[in-house]
Amino acid sequence: MLKTIAGTRGLVRPRRLRRTAQIRGLVRETELSVNDLIYPIFVKEGLVGREEIPSMPRVYRLSLDELVVEASMVKELGIPGILLFGIPQVKDELGSYAYRPDGIVQKAVKAVKENVGGLLVMTDVCLCQYTSHGHCGVVREGRIDNDESVEILARIAISHAEAGADVVAPSAMMDHQVLAIREGLDKAGFTDVAIMSYSAKFASALYGPFREAAYSSPSFGDRSSYQMDPSNIREAFREIELDLREGADIVMVKPALAYLDIIARARSKFNVPIAAYNVSGEYSMIKAAAEKGWIDEKRVVMEVMTSIKRAGADIIITYFAPQVAGWLKA
Ligand code: PBG
Ligand code: ZN
Repeated sequence: MLKTIAGTRGLVRPRRLRRTAQIRGLVRETELSVNDLIYPIFVKEGLVGREEIPSMPRVYRLSLDELVVEASMVKELGIPGILLFGIPQVKDELGSYAYRPDGIVQKAVKAVKENVGGLLVMTDVCLCQYTSHGHCGVVREGRIDNDESVEILARIAISHAEAGADVVAPSAMMDHQVLAIREGLDKAGFTDVAIMSYSAKFASALYGPFREAAYSSPSFGDRSSYQMDPSNIREAFREIELDLREGADIVMVKPALAYLDIIARARSKFNVPIAAYNVSGEYSMIKAAAEKGWIDEKRVVMEVMTSIKRAGADIIITYFAPQVAGWLKA
């Protein structure tokens, strides 16, 4: 006969498995590993040395020399890879500096590949840092032209592959960008270069510090005609589905924390690696509160990282990567 809840007192005691560190370790369901982490890095053309980003303490715009120093540190910590963002000296209407062979990202990829062996090099593929208007695509009569943008994005991805990138990560949220990039890469002989698509990228206010770091705020309007409405979850699955059909190897949900439900449900729907981008605003909020002494930074960061993994992310892209790697070692 089933016991009543009252009758089970003394029989079921969940606290038995929380008694010591050893037993808690045995029953722990989610364990963060350095292997889960990717570190985003900003490289600035023409810069000498490094400049700290005011809203992102410990994150810098780096010269090519400093990039090599940073990448070596990342490698030393056991972090498997970096995601490169370029900040060009010159912007134009069409973002043409994004696909030049001697562009800042192309040089950055080469510098890392030549000087730091065994580090996975991923590149962000977008136009917003390179266009004078700051949009992620080409502007025609005040609107973002999808199909023209997609052609340029493919050229950018190929130029990154030519420089030696292992993974290209399109973030422009243009329709069919993954297909155009996959076809372009394959035609150019880069069948082994993988695509990590920013599939479900939301029009979020949490990108604020990044845009300050990369000088990439749109000069008119906003990004809601291409990035997703934060209210939508079914549409996120549709975006992921389309990107997989177009040949994406890894799909991404971005931002991470305010979108853990999307990560969790995508995890149960799709049998592919899922990346989550713990974005700049998520970083800055923790840094600011920690600086004020209002929270314990290490504990909050580890809790947040664990939550992203527990939700189902295989890969966590985070500005905290070096600190987390250090804490995991200690
Ligand atoms: C460029 C891009 C952005 C981010 C990654 N790639 C900014 C944006 O869409 O405005 C945001 C990353 C972050 O906030 O850390 N398309
Ligand atoms: Zn962009």
